[in-house]
Amino acid sequence: MKERLVSLQNAALAELEDVANPQELNEVRVQYLGKKGALTEILRGMGQLSAEERPVIGQLANDVRAAIEGALAELQTKFDAEETNRRLAQEKIDVTLAGRAPETGTLHPLNWVIQQVEDIFVGMGYIVAEGPEVERDYYNFEALNLPKNHPARDMQDSFYITDEILLRTHTSPVQVRTMEKMHGEVPVKIICPGKVYRRDNDDATHSHMFTQIEGLVIDKNVRMSDLKGTLLQFVQEMFGPETQIRLRPSFFPFTEPSAEVDVTCCMCKGNGCRVCKQSGWLEILGSGMVHPRVLEMAGYDPNEYTGFAFGMGVERIAMLKYGVDDIRHFYTNDLRFLRQFAHD
Ligand code: PHE
Repeated sequence: MKERLVSLQNAALAELEDVANPQELNEVRVQYLGKKGALTEILRGMGQLSAEERPVIGQLANDVRAAIEGALAELQTKFDAEETNRRLAQEKIDVTLAGRAPETGTLHPLNWVIQQVEDIFVGMGYIVAEGPEVERDYYNFEALNLPKNHPARDMQDSFYITDEILLRTHTSPVQVRTMEKMHGEVPVKIICPGKVYRRDNDDATHSHMFTQIEGLVIDKNVRMSDLKGTLLQFVQEMFGPETQIRLRPSFFPFTEPSAEVDVTCCMCKGNGCRVCKQSGWLEILGSGMVHPRVLEMAGYDPNEYTGFAFGMGVERIAMLKYGVDDIRHFYTNDLRFLRQFAHD
């Protein structure tokens, strides 16, 4: 028995010399020390030993087991270390490489202009209002004194969804919605930015979708001079303190009288250049005194109250202020374009 134990130890140690990986190591462990392994097999014969032999053989068996286990553990440690080194090599990162800076977005130039306009008017006590882009014919036309078949509807070729529902062609319907909500209360002082839609063919100066900002003031004794003074204050804050305005008679069915408003060309300071076609002036908005019929339809007595309204094109203002020569730049999301408007 003694010889069998010794030769078992030698055989196990010899076999371990050739073990190349953890799987083989485990096979050897099972083969020699497992429940059905070689050592157990030998120890089964212990019962036949004499009382003197038993502790001696027992001791020897323990030594053999310890020797094999020791060799197994040593190899296991070696394989573990190899595995760790392999992983470290694989997952190595070069901390000296330059990092990739995360892309941060900026405010879109149109939103930036809207914010500036809002700030100026909020500073004058206006409230920012909003209205739906999918609008009822009633608010977009009828309540603005543009009855069905009115020739002025030709000015705005519209995207109709049904006979009664369309994509709004201007932000003016928010005038009516605001007045209805106010139930005849004054003062009404709102500014309303938003997208509008017209059936235009897109080119450098036209887009089927663009952005407007509407303004509406209603109170007792609101006069044309209030409109003029308000707009002068606005353009001087927006384009610089030297900026002047010029009102030209115009027509809108929902205002009477109506005026187109020009500002001093911000490129040439009014001296005449390519942008203002040598006139020194740039048209930026439509405006007028709210038509008595519009007030009446929305529940305001035109004998008691008057008001003014205006609507400006945001793209146009952005193009003039920043010298952008094609309206399509605002919608194509070319980062090289947008990055130029990055600001804190
Ligand atoms: N809604 C007009 C347009 O889109 C602009 C406007 C607004 C004119 C308010 C007068 C008063 O052209």
